[in-house]
Amino acid sequence: MTDGPIPAHGLPVVARAPGKCILFGEHAVVRGQPEILLAIDVYTQVAIRSSPEWALNGHAEPVAAHRYLQEAIRQLWPGAAPLNVTAVSRIPKGSGMGSSAAFVAGLSAAMGAANGGIDRATLAQQSFAIERNAQGVGSPGDTSAAAAGGYLTLNTEVGAVGEPLWTVESARERWVVRRIADPGWVWVVAYSGLPKDTGPKVRAVGERFSSPEGPELLRRFAEVANAGLRAMARDDGPDTGRLLEENQELLRQVGVSHPRLEALLEAARPSALGAKVTGAGGGGSIVALPKPGQETDLVRRLARAGAVPFAVGPAPRGVELI
Ligand code: MEV
Repeated sequence: MTDGPIPAHGLPVVARAPGKCILFGEHAVVRGQPEILLAIDVYTQVAIRSSPEWALNGHAEPVAAHRYLQEAIRQLWPGAAPLNVTAVSRIPKGSGMGSSAAFVAGLSAAMGAANGGIDRATLAQQSFAIERNAQGVGSPGDTSAAAAGGYLTLNTEVGAVGEPLWTVESARERWVVRRIADPGWVWVVAYSGLPKDTGPKVRAVGERFSSPEGPELLRRFAEVANAGLRAMARDDGPDTGRLLEENQELLRQVGVSHPRLEALLEAARPSALGAKVTGAGGGGSIVALPKPGQETDLVRRLARAGAVPFAVGPAPRGVELI
């Protein structure tokens, strides 16, 4: 079931949006291949209120430098009165856990409410357009997770399980976003402390996908993501873990791993069914599926290896007014 529309609400208005964790298919999804991800129960809260001048967290200067805020103003708030925007986030910035998508979805929901309300499919489309214009590249996976909550797939194979939510289009690609059932698992995400910058990483991987070996790489990313979906649907943790490792091997081949991330994957191994980089990579986080009953052990191992681990589950709802 999809949450309902964002209702109309006068200023001030506060919205809260979840972060995300990608299980299969990051990078390849930018080229229209399948992705599986979940919105996670770690949130960004965005408040907007009337103000004599534009301000972000009480200061005028950062507004001009904040590309996501600038893009949201251009697309959703043109010519309108200045706002004081306040953002509070538990999602570490640059961690691969979707802090920018959550900020964008929270801000779009708040502006949408102040503009008379907005339905969720439009919100997902707008949030994607804002994030993509600010970054220059990308797919609607992260912003759809922030908009919808729960477990989602993009462009998984025809006939795949799942309730269709919406379709998002760019000039080049088209993505069908579906909700899939929650397998009821806990995931452990561990932030390496190395921030990443999504735009440059996505562009570098895009060059690999445009090289002669690109089509075969994309085919293998798709094969692993579709197999991952089937393994999750039959509640098969060990096979899902094996496929996470296969996905990681492909991420290594396109150059988004890092010695620090490899050290975390190694540290996770004794307590995990499988683990991989999550998000754009080059820094950011890994995600691991704990062996049954070993969640705490896994968190401990990753903390000992110097990461900031989070045991996460699906955020039950997408962005909402609070
Ligand atoms: C970033 O969280 C995921 C990427 O696939 C880029 C995107 O989908 O926008 C690397």
